[in-house]
Amino acid sequence: HRYCVIMCGGIGSRFWPYSRTECPKQFIDFFGTGRSLLQMSYDRILPVVPKENIIVVTNDMYAPLVKEQLPELTDSQILLEPARRNTAPCIAWAACHIQALDPKASMIVTPSDHLITRESEFVKSIEAGFNFVENHDALLTLGIKPTRPETGYGYIQIGQPFEGDILKVKTFTEKPDIDLAKVFVDSGEFFWNSGIFLWSAEAILKALHSYAADLMSTFDKGAADFGTPAESEFIRREFPGCVNISIDYAVMEQASNVYVECVDFGWNDLGTWSALYDNSPKNREANVTQNCRVLAYNSTGNIFAVRGDKLVVVNGLKDYIVADAGDVLLVCPKADEQTIKQYVNDVKLAY
Ligand code: GDD
Ligand code: MG
Repeated sequence: HRYCVIMCGGIGSRFWPYSRTECPKQFIDFFGTGRSLLQMSYDRILPVVPKENIIVVTNDMYAPLVKEQLPELTDSQILLEPARRNTAPCIAWAACHIQALDPKASMIVTPSDHLITRESEFVKSIEAGFNFVENHDALLTLGIKPTRPETGYGYIQIGQPFEGDILKVKTFTEKPDIDLAKVFVDSGEFFWNSGIFLWSAEAILKALHSYAADLMSTFDKGAADFGTPAESEFIRREFPGCVNISIDYAVMEQASNVYVECVDFGWNDLGTWSALYDNSPKNREANVTQNCRVLAYNSTGNIFAVRGDKLVVVNGLKDYIVADAGDVLLVCPKADEQTIKQYVNDVKLAY
């Protein structure tokens, strides 16, 4: 009864232009291992979930990339969204789809763009999580001990210990501002939401019905279609009308049956160039190169990600991001990387 849903429809705009709408970061092999972040996400779940129960939910546009990178999946294991509506509609669809196949299903929902370094620890944590949600009407998130007041994450306030490493959650706050994030981290009572969730299909559908009734009224119309050949036509027609909201705002902040398993398996969101820099092998000058040839003089602490057959020659560059792909070259101090999302918007406006 165990299923895995890999959410694979984001656009990775903070890695622009190396990650672009045509090929977002989950499809990139950042570590030169021959496996993209999506493929690594698939590999690490294989010991826990039967291959035929792994489902990738992505945008229509990425169907060819998913099929190329995960040829072992059948077409029925790839759910294609006709519009980008964030993670709540993605999860609602996946849960309806899975429940139609197996009313007793439990599922892990995982991002496709994270790095996890200790895979055997990961497997143990996921086994424990499955055991828990198979026996409780619970929404379980995996919590990570915070190391800095990061504003891009959800924060979980822990309550009473419940069972094993699992605690009751008091509050869930998605993406607080920096002042609140500092208060949270200093208090020692908060964990980061890893973005990896476990629950039974029944429990998440119940929660979605309670807290995202509008969204579920759409999916309820297709009740007879899920698990049949009519499903994709239903989705093509109705999915674009879904609200655009993440599961964190739609459900996790609202629900009262949220639990957290505090885990430590070398989780890294790889959300930014700096995170990638920190997790990548460096040369003697502490430069990181992605897939390109660089001749660097008097230059340290940089990350070079340049597509195509181009030799990069630099002199006197310190702590910069140099990213080049297609028709865009970005040169930006690592310290200013938070503004990259803004550049993407500005460029869209300008063209
Ligand atoms: N199928 C599909 N459709 N997948 C999507 C969509 C969509 O419309 N939007 C995003 N995804 C995928 C992304 O590719 C990623 O793998 C995952 O869903 C999470 O989306 P993000 O957009 O990366 O979320 P986030 O990083 O802002 O926040 C989430 O993750 C944090 C940890 O990394 C939240 O769950 C936070 O609470 C959490 O701390
Ligand atoms: Mg993310």
